[in-house]
Amino acid sequence: MIREILIWPDPLLKQEAKPVAAVDDDLRALLDDMAETMYAADGVGLAAPQVGELKRCLVIDTSPRQEGQKLLHFVNPEIVRTEGVTHYTEGCLSIPGEAEEVERAAKVWVRALGYDGKPFELECEGLLAIAVQHETDHLSGTLFVDHLSALKRELIRKRMKKLKAEKAAERADDVKKAPRHESAL
Ligand code: NI
Repeated sequence: MIREILIWPDPLLKQEAKPVAAVDDDLRALLDDMAETMYAADGVGLAAPQVGELKRCLVIDTSPRQEGQKLLHFVNPEIVRTEGVTHYTEGCLSIPGEAEEVERAAKVWVRALGYDGKPFELECEGLLAIAVQHETDHLSGTLFVDHLSALKRELIRKRMKKLKAEKAAERADDVKKAPRHESAL
């Protein structure tokens, strides 16, 4: 099921997500929804708080832009080691239409539980390393705009507030246009 992606600023996006106690069918259903939502939005990563679930889990698939990759699930991910520095122009499904250069580690090692609940460790480079850092940030309520200057962040905040107001107006319009089903009681 495709979920609604929260748009920043939103109080849920600023909260710390809670560790997942068990990788069970309910959690796998959430991971499936997250992957479906990410693909539908043409993204390469999505964190659970972006669909309003304060759980420490992520889905990432950089394969459209990085050879040899596939859909990856990370439950309770932890970056255990980093190496080097790189700069990448990042976007975020919760901040549509915006992209800014962010400084990140070039290489990261991440430990997590997989879709099957088994622990794994993965060495990540290139876009995958960026995505792991960007999505893990979401679990502590940090978005890429938090890595920018206050001035840039406030400009983006203004544009997002405008976008949210437009979306809310569109929804109100749809409600007005919808046929009314009145029961004669
Ligand atoms: Ni994001």
